Amino acid sequence: MKKITSLIACTYFTISAFAQTVKPVYLDESQPIEKRVEDALTRMTLEEKVKMCHAQSKFSSYGVPRLGIPELWMSDGPHGIREEVLWDEWNGAHWTSDSCIAFPALTCLAATWDPQMAALYGKSIGEEARYRKKDVLLGPGVNIYRTPLNGRNFEYMGEDPFLSSRMVIPYIQGVQSNGVAACVKHFALNNQEIDRGHINVIIDDRALHEIYLPAFKAAVQEAGVWSIMGAYNQYKGQQCCHNQYLLNDILKQDWQFDGVVISDWGGVHNTEQAANFGLDLEMGTWTDGLSQGKANAYDNYYLADPLLKKIKKGEINIKVVDDKVRRLLKMIFRTVMNSQRPWGSFGTEEHALAGRTIAENGIVLLKNDKNILPINLNKIKKIVVVGENANKRMTLGGGSSSLKVKYEITPLDGLKKQIGNLAEIIYVKGYVSPLTEKRDPKPKIPVGYKEPNPEILLQEAINAAKDADIVLYFGGLNKNENQDSEGNDRKSYNLPYGQDRLISELAKVNKNIVVTIISGNAVAMPWIKEVPAIVEGWFGGTESGNAIASILTGKVNPSGKLPMTIAEKLEDYPSHALGEYPGDHVNVRYNEGIFIGYRWIDKQKKQTLFPFGHGLSYTTFDYGKIKISSKQMKNNDKITISIPIKNSGKIKGKETVQLYIGDEKCSFERPIKELKGFSKIELNPGEEKIVTFEITDEAFKFYDDKQKIWRTEPGKFKIYIGASSNDIRETSEITLL
Ligand code: BGC
Repeated sequence: MKKITSLIACTYFTISAFAQTVKPVYLDESQPIEKRVEDALTRMTLEEKVKMCHAQSKFSSYGVPRLGIPELWMSDGPHGIREEVLWDEWNGAHWTSDSCIAFPALTCLAATWDPQMAALYGKSIGEEARYRKKDVLLGPGVNIYRTPLNGRNFEYMGEDPFLSSRMVIPYIQGVQSNGVAACVKHFALNNQEIDRGHINVIIDDRALHEIYLPAFKAAVQEAGVWSIMGAYNQYKGQQCCHNQYLLNDILKQDWQFDGVVISDWGGVHNTEQAANFGLDLEMGTWTDGLSQGKANAYDNYYLADPLLKKIKKGEINIKVVDDKVRRLLKMIFRTVMNSQRPWGSFGTEEHALAGRTIAENGIVLLKNDKNILPINLNKIKKIVVVGENANKRMTLGGGSSSLKVKYEITPLDGLKKQIGNLAEIIYVKGYVSPLTEKRDPKPKIPVGYKEPNPEILLQEAINAAKDADIVLYFGGLNKNENQDSEGNDRKSYNLPYGQDRLISELAKVNKNIVVTIISGNAVAMPWIKEVPAIVEGWFGGTESGNAIASILTGKVNPSGKLPMTIAEKLEDYPSHALGEYPGDHVNVRYNEGIFIGYRWIDKQKKQTLFPFGHGLSYTTFDYGKIKISSKQMKNNDKITISIPIKNSGKIKGKETVQLYIGDEKCSFERPIKELKGFSKIELNPGEEKIVTFEITDEAFKFYDDKQKIWRTEPGKFKIYIGASSNDIRETSEITLL
C-alpha cells in the first residue's frame, strides 16, 4: 500500500512538474504560428469564437480571457495616435498622457516621393502606437484621388497607383516592425465622402485593377499587411465591408491575404453577408449602420448574437467563423502576444524631428518667379503675414484623423522662431472662417458674438501689405466641415472665405507676395499669374510651421513633388468633365475608367496649373542623355535605363527623377504614359549622379479584362524621363518581342 501511495505521489509530482514546464502549444512562441492558431481554436467554445468577431468598445475587441488571450486595441491613424476616448463614446477621456506627435498628412508624405521617408514615418508612428498599447493602427489610407472635392484626400497618397504602392509598403513595414498591425484602408473605391455609406460604385475591371487596387495589392503582397479596413460604400451592389468580389475573391483568394478584414466603423449592414462575404471583425459607431442604434449594445452587432443564433440554427456554417477566428488569433499572436515586440516611445523629440523632416521633404515649391524665394533676410526687413492659416491649428478637426497633440507649431510661430529679430513680422488675419461653421471641436461662441466683417479684414490686410518688403500669405483649406474633412466633400474647387479676391487685392498693392496653400487638396488659383511664388504646404502636423519656415527662408531646399494634378478648373478632372461626380445618390459611375489625373490630362491634351510630379527647387538640375541596356527585350528580361543628372545650380538640392512608359500600339486603349519608376537623389552643386531604373515586363503590363489577367502585348514602348509628368527631358524606345 505504501509502495502504491509513493508511486502515485511520484507520478503526480512528475505530471505536475511537466504541466508547469510544458506550455500549451498556442502559448509557445517557438511553435509555428499556424500550429498555435489551430491549438487555440480547438480550445475555444462557439460563444468565445463569436465574441472575437465584434467590438467590445469603440476601439477594442474581445480576446479570450479564459485562455489568457488578450483583447485587441486599435487607434486612428493615419497621421498620429488619437486621444483616448471613453469606452462607448467618441468624446475624449481626458487623459493627461495621450498627447501625441502629429506627423504630416499622407498627401505630404506622398509628395516626398521618397520611400525612406515612408519608412521613417511608419517606424515612428508605429512606436507611438506601441507605447500607447495599440495593437492595430487604423492606417495608412490609399484611396485614389479621383476628385479634388473629396474631403478625405489629405489622408491618402494621391492619384497614381504606382507612387502610392511604392510609398505604402515601407510605411506598413515600419509600423509592423513594432509588433503593431497596420490596417490599410478603405478597401475599396471610397473616393468621395458624399453618400459614402451607401453609394454603389460602377467601374470597369480595368480601372479597378489598374488604378484603384494596386496600392492595396502592394500592401498585401509586398508589405505583408496584417489587417485591412473595408470601405463604407458599395461595389456591385454589396457593401464593401461584406463583399464577395472584393474580400473573398480578390483579397483572400487571388491575393492570398492572411490577415484580418476589419469593418469601417458602422460599415456592416447584414449578418449573413458579413459572415459569408469576407469580413472578420465588426467595429462600430453605434449598433446599426453609421449613426443609429443604442449605446453599449455590442451584443446586437451583426457579428454578435445574431450570428450566434444563426449558427445554432444551422443557417450559417461554423467554418466561416473558424476562418475569422484563425485570422484574428494570428493577428493577436503577431501583435499583442508577441513577447519580442519593442516597447515603443511616445511624444519624443525624435518623432517630432521625423515629422519635420518628412514635411520638409514633402512641401512643394510650385512657382518661384525671379527667385523671390527663399526670403533674402539681408534685404527684407518688414514681413507682413496674412491669412488665418498662418495661425490656425490644423491637427484638430477633419474627422477620425483629428489629433490631440503635444504641441503644434503654426507657420507664424515657425517664422517668428526662425527669423527672430532679422526682420519685423506683422500679422493680419485678412480673412477668417466663421466660428458658426461646423468644426471639431465645437468652439464656444460668446453671447452676442458677431463674425468679423470680411471687408474690414480685407482692408486691414491691404493697408498692412502696402509697404511690406514681402507679403507671406497663408490660406487654403482647413479641417472644418466641407473643407478637408471626413463625412462630407468640399463644395467648390475655389478657395473658401473670399480668399481668391483677397489674394488678388494683396497682389495689386504688393508684387512681392508668396502664397502658401495649406491643404490636402488641389485648389483653383485664378490669381496664379498675379503672384510670383506659390508653395503647397500641406497639413504638416506638429512641426508644420517649422518645416514651412525652413523652406521659405531657404534653410531647407524644397524637394517635394505633387502626388496629384492641380487642374485649372474642376471640369478638367474627368469625374467632373463627364458629370460622374458625385453620382445620383444610388450609383456613381467611374466612366472615365483608367483615365484619371495625368492620364486624362495627357489624353485630353489639357493644360494644368501644375502637373502631377511637379515641384521646383532653389537649385537647377540638368538631365543628360538617356541610356538603355538593350533596345529589345523579351518577357522576363531585365533592362536598365539610366540617365546622368547634374546639379547645375549653386546649392545642394534633391531631385526626383521620374520614369514614365507608354504603350505605342495596343489592342486595348492605354494611357499615353504611366509612372513606372522614380528616384530621389541629393546632389551638391556641380555634382552629377547616374540614376538607374531596372525594369521588367511588369512595367509594360495592363489588365486584360476579357481574360482577367495582367499581360503584355509585344511592340514598341516609349520611355520618358522627366522632372514631372509634363516636363519630359529625355525619351527613348524599347521593343518588347
Ligand atoms: C473612418 C475610418 C476610421 C474609423 C474609426 C471611420 O469613420 O472612416 O477611417 O478609422 O472611423 O475612427
